[in-house]
Amino acid sequence: MAPRKLAAGNWKMNGDLAALDQIDALARDHAAPGCDVLICPPAVLIHPMAARVSGLADTIAVGGQDCHAAASGAHTGDISAVQLKDAGASHVILGHSERRTDHGETDAEVTAKAAAAHRAGLVAIICVGESEAQRDAGETLDVIAAQLAGSIPEGATARNTVIAYEPIWAIGTGRTPTNDQIAEVHQLMRDRLTARFADGDQMSLLYGGSVKPGNAAEIFAIAHVNGALVGGASLKASDFGPIVSAL
Ligand code: G3H
Repeated sequence: MAPRKLAAGNWKMNGDLAALDQIDALARDHAAPGCDVLICPPAVLIHPMAARVSGLADTIAVGGQDCHAAASGAHTGDISAVQLKDAGASHVILGHSERRTDHGETDAEVTAKAAAAHRAGLVAIICVGESEAQRDAGETLDVIAAQLAGSIPEGATARNTVIAYEPIWAIGTGRTPTNDQIAEVHQLMRDRLTARFADGDQMSLLYGGSVKPGNAAEIFAIAHVNGALVGGASLKASDFGPIVSAL
């Protein structure tokens, strides 16, 4: 079985209730047979967005952008995977470079969060990616291999885990790696996942970092790229829709 295709939008700390109106247009104009479409809005919008898409024949899934490793407890400001699930989420992004940088998240913490996501019945989208300094130093493949080894819990399967390669220097910058550079990292990820997990050959691998309507089709044509994790271009249906259609 081939890995499932996934077009995932990460709204980060953007959007409001009024922004949910464009979900209808996205579902109507860019139906994507054989391709999963996911939007991860800020936590306060998960439940209203889930309610909105429930009337759209489940064409769009809803996800969180982070979760706590515990199911409940005294953790002011945090949200558990169980609560995300309860609010209508099916996925959660974990280990995004902005979480790793802004909140000092380590590979071990990402692993614990992903295990919590799995226990709650969520698909964990685990992010990895090198900094520009690491790429310039020729360390990219070592960095990605180490993050993969350290950030994915035992028990991960193609059904509950997606991996997103996001070079930090490509996020929000308008810069992207060359096709060969993306292919090299995705081949490494496929090899490592296949070696470690029984169905690692079927895990979906996303590319993220300045994906736009103008470059999506070319990126999706690269071997072992099964979709995208899109930031800025996921905020407007007029940008995200063509990306979904290209997948
Ligand atoms: O999670 C999404 C990524 O950080 C990519 O963001 O598409 O704005 O570069 P971007």
